[in-house]
Amino acid sequence: MSRIEAPRSEDAVVTGDLTGRLLAGLPAEAVLTDPGVTASYSHDMASFCPAGAPAVVVLPRTVEQVQHVMRVATELRVPVVPQGARSGLSGAANATDGCIVLSLTKMDRILEISPVDRIAVVEPGVINATLSHAVEEHGLYYPPDPSSWEMCTIGGNIGTGSGGLCCVKYGVTAEYVLGLDVVLADGRLMSTGRRTAKGVAGYDLTRLFVGSEGSLGIVVRAVLALRPKPPQQLVLAAEFPSATAACAAVCRIMEGGHVPSLLELMDRTTVKAVNDLAHMGLPETTEALLLAAFDTPHPAADLAAVGELCEAAGATQVVPADDAAESELLLQARRLSLTALEAVKGTTMIDDVCVPRSRLGAMLEGVERIAAKYGLTIGVCAHAGDGNTHPTVCFDAQDADESRRARESFDEIMALGLELGGTITGEHGVGVLKKEWLAREIGPVGVEMQRAVKQAFDPLGILNPGKVL
Ligand code: LAC
Ligand code: ZN
Repeated sequence: MSRIEAPRSEDAVVTGDLTGRLLAGLPAEAVLTDPGVTASYSHDMASFCPAGAPAVVVLPRTVEQVQHVMRVATELRVPVVPQGARSGLSGAANATDGCIVLSLTKMDRILEISPVDRIAVVEPGVINATLSHAVEEHGLYYPPDPSSWEMCTIGGNIGTGSGGLCCVKYGVTAEYVLGLDVVLADGRLMSTGRRTAKGVAGYDLTRLFVGSEGSLGIVVRAVLALRPKPPQQLVLAAEFPSATAACAAVCRIMEGGHVPSLLELMDRTTVKAVNDLAHMGLPETTEALLLAAFDTPHPAADLAAVGELCEAAGATQVVPADDAAESELLLQARRLSLTALEAVKGTTMIDDVCVPRSRLGAMLEGVERIAAKYGLTIGVCAHAGDGNTHPTVCFDAQDADESRRARESFDEIMALGLELGGTITGEHGVGVLKKEWLAREIGPVGVEMQRAVKQAFDPLGILNPGKVL
């Protein structure tokens, strides 16, 4: 049995009045107790994840206020569930009964942008797109761009270790977090990392916090690395007679030494779903649509070379976008994939399996087999250049049998990913959705060491209990 357990609800408020204690260090408007309102903070966007009823939602605006919340939580042994925009897809932001939901959305200031140091210093509630636009004005670029970039927060991106469309060239959130200020479970403030271009002083606690899903501490400030803004990217769309052929093209492109700024795949189900939702006029006869982009000085030449590789791999049509506006439309279509697939049958379970890109074809063939075996619609969109697939099971949650088959197929897809040398999650995190699967991926020794880390940071088990481990 684990040494770290979620506090039981009857222990939750052992002394004093939780709300009263919180109000001693927070303004009244930052403490929400109306059950109708607090219930609206109970879960993120993942299906099939249990969510409890928060005792209270707090919306601090300062580091001191977050420290106050954690001191009260430690004293009263109340679980704390940190939240950003709740656009997560693994249940990591779901409330537990009687918890304090700690929403960081009001701490949304960009504190500094330094073109010389190429960094931004931000509070956790800054929206990803807001930061992107702000740094752009300085000729800079913050690459991580999850599909939810217009609503998700930097704190949430750090918590889940988010990726996005640009990662094939620019890497994921972890590569851009240089330093953090973190409020620990007992209210102490810790600074990790640096604002320098290099630094190897001690264990890399900054990296440890990226992807820790609010289970080790509360990120209240982040130093982020920026890059010079690249030229506008140009996108090419290639149609393939099978997902396997599209995956072969991905392998040829990577093997050929090309560095696309984006290499995304949408299968036929996804293309049709996007057309049905947004009437984008994407080609519906294709089995797989591959989007490739370059943000190099001469993108047209790079796209021509990649277009030839697509044709050699069996593409039936290769269409470069005419201009930036058409390129942006294709990206919009890709970003709409999940929302569109949700509309197919009302509910989705979205997998996030990432495999070595040389195994991408085997992965997608396996997903087709699994869909047929369970008699389900499973649409696939993928950050193909990263080998990161999102097989998305579309089902009717009112249909008990279909729901059971959805869960089983969702699990079987993760098993296949592990068999192919991949990971159960490339960018959405473990949360509650994939908890049993973590041990299968990292093994008993890995679990033991991860528990030891958790114990060091959160000895009382009050930080987002029941998530990750
Ligand atoms: C995407 C999200 C679901 O790739 O990760 O659209
Ligand atoms: Zn994704």
